[in-house]
Amino acid sequence: MKGLVLVGFMGTGKTAVGRVLAARLGWPLVDTDELIVQAAGKPVARIFAEDGEPVFRAAETAVLKTLAGFTATPRVVATGGGIVLAAENWPLLHSLGDVAGLTAEPATVLQRVGAAQDRPLLAGTPEEVRVRIARLLNERRAAYARSDQLFPTDGRTPEEVADRILSWRREREARIE
Ligand code: S3P
Repeated sequence: MKGLVLVGFMGTGKTAVGRVLAARLGWPLVDTDELIVQAAGKPVARIFAEDGEPVFRAAETAVLKTLAGFTATPRVVATGGGIVLAAENWPLLHSLGDVAGLTAEPATVLQRVGAAQDRPLLAGTPEEVRVRIARLLNERRAAYARSDQLFPTDGRTPEEVADRILSWRREREARIE
């Protein structure tokens, strides 16, 4: 059976929605950031600071390859916001299941990420963070649009977003069967 993969910018709710989906489906939730942190033995911010972003990106691809090697049981895979950037990650993401892209307006992202400590790309003054969110969202829009379906999350609870994803998945399964 196919799994479910969540991609989307920081603060779009991948982890929160992933938890709801995993509970509803009775599947395990795996989080690529968590797997990288476990393997590296240090938090994301330290991997960026000490090893550099390219090392983190390579770790993302390596984790996807490992997960793609074990697809016997379905699971929900929550990913880091930048996993969509490498073209080589896309066949791997699709091989893990239906890819749902979560979206949010810049103001929503800003409100949700707040003063996050462990997001190296969102370090800085509130104004710097605001500008960076707008820039990164623009740069990445086309990459997130490669998802099988996009789901806006503004003004919606994780439960509401999960409901929409589950309905979409059921329709998709019905079409394929
Ligand atoms: C990143 C998003 C983060 C984490 C890292 C880089 C990004 O994950 O992978 O800080 O490039 O957007 P979340 O989307 O879970 O915050």
